[in-house]
Amino acid sequence: MDKQIWEKVDGYFAQTFGLEDSILQQVQENCRRAELPAISISAPQGMFLQILVAGIRARRILEVGTLGGYSGIWLARGMPEEGRLVTVEYEAKHAGVAQSNFALAGLDRKIQLINDSGSRALKQMIENGEPAFDLIFLDADKPGYAEYLELSLKLAHSGTVIVADNVVRNGEVANPECEEERVVGIKRYLQAAAASPQLLSTALQTVGSKGYDGFSISIVK
Ligand code: DHB
Ligand code: MG
Repeated sequence: MDKQIWEKVDGYFAQTFGLEDSILQQVQENCRRAELPAISISAPQGMFLQILVAGIRARRILEVGTLGGYSGIWLARGMPEEGRLVTVEYEAKHAGVAQSNFALAGLDRKIQLINDSGSRALKQMIENGEPAFDLIFLDADKPGYAEYLELSLKLAHSGTVIVADNVVRNGEVANPECEEERVVGIKRYLQAAAASPQLLSTALQTVGSKGYDGFSISIVK
């Protein structure tokens, strides 16, 4: 089993369920043209998030790590018109591409994009008394995840679902010898989630066009 077959099956699912419309395809193309890192979630993962959003009837979503806006579009589409996505992106170039992709998707009124570090943006929201979010998707720099979790808990309510991307890293998460900073960051995040008396947490491994990785998922008690 290798990435080739995982990719083929993701393509099969995308085709079977008609996952990517012409807007999402154009968004991907815009990200490629702008030479953004090819690390967006896959279409099947995007629909998984969208179903989660719709299933919990989320009206307010926070995303940390916008990149080109691909996942943000999936998340925002899961909410009704009055729903709001606040998405935070550190890199100005990525934020610029995302903003035009949100406009292309007709979602710019539903989405607030903040071009700042996750840490500063979340602290600012806490200080401003930002209402709690129903779902929080962490997909930014991995060494920052543990801090984003701590801050996210101050922007959450009982029932808020917190999803974190890239918690498997090709299995390295279970390698005690791995010192790579992203893997170390993920392990700190998972340990913090596990240790939090406020959370129920688990993680699921995924294979697909994005290789071998996974999501963690927590709910605030
Ligand atoms: C990386 C980050 C991501 O969010 C992702 O989905 C894949 C890879 C990275 O930093 O390597
Ligand atoms: Mg990711």
